[in-house]
Amino acid sequence: MHINLAYDIPAWEEKEIIRELSNRNINYSIINVNENPFKIKSMENNDLVIVRCISSSKSLYFSKIAETYGFYTVNSYNTINITSNKAITSMLLVKNNIKTPETFIAFSIEKAMDAADNLGYPVVIKPVTGSWGRMISICRNRNELRDFLEYYENVSNIFYIQRYVKRPKRDIRIIAAGENIIAATYRYQKDSWKTNTHLGGRVERAILSDDQKETIIKVAGLFKDSIIGIDAMEDNNEITVHEINNRVEFRGAAQIYGNIIVKSIVDFIYKLARC
Ligand SMILES: Nc1ncnc2c1ncn2[C@@H]1O[C@H](COP(=O)(O)OP(=O)(O)O)[C@@H](O)[C@H]1O
Ligand SMILES: [Mg+2]
Repeated sequence: MHINLAYDIPAWEEKEIIRELSNRNINYSIINVNENPFKIKSMENNDLVIVRCISSSKSLYFSKIAETYGFYTVNSYNTINITSNKAITSMLLVKNNIKTPETFIAFSIEKAMDAADNLGYPVVIKPVTGSWGRMISICRNRNELRDFLEYYENVSNIFYIQRYVKRPKRDIRIIAAGENIIAATYRYQKDSWKTNTHLGGRVERAILSDDQKETIIKVAGLFKDSIIGIDAMEDNNEITVHEINNRVEFRGAAQIYGNIIVKSIVDFIYKLARC
């Protein structure tokens, strides 16, 4: 089976995956999704595509195009469709009894304020799509929230409001391939209240308890044959899962784990492709 890697802008991770594919003498190709129109047609195919566009909507559409062409996709349209939307992800987690921060969705400013009153302040407001901590905001009281929502309404009329988790100054990022945890790190906040590596925080190896591992494996089990990044927070003695990433970045975790991560990712893909 032939392996393809689909990308739009090749970031560090895509270059690492390509390097690992070349090191192993695997028969592979790269597809810049920006460079071709894709006719909608059905095809018979046996190839595999690793879908890794920075634009999550390009990944979403391209994964479906590839599946229509008969390709096996990692990640699949289904995985990308769920995980590229925080609201849909929250619903999946709740349905499967995975601990996740209490969250409301409201369709008007007034009802978003009611949701925040119900949760208690501070609250966290997030765009349902997006990454790198962009536009994720904390509002500490009703007045601050109203001012913020009046701006935010110009961005979206879907209000995703979440309980602020009183966690330590770090969160947990797990990289999973299928149901295997291949790396677990703590990401420490630096100049922001958010812990995204993009915002410059330090990364450390995370030691997960058996209970924490069990939760993470249960989350990974919801996504068949996928490579995902699971974001979780320590909440008292438990962990609460707040996000799942379908184009998982591992540059931060690689500072600790080295090239084991990319090797495990390619091993996993190689097994799926059975080449
Ligand atoms: N409910 C919350 N309580 C406390 N901190 C949060 C909460 N939600 C998000 N954060 C912080 O903001 C960061 C970004 O949120 P996340 O939902 O992972 O979105 P993104 O897609 O931008 O990574 C998290 O890694 C965490 O540090
Ligand atoms: Mg995140």
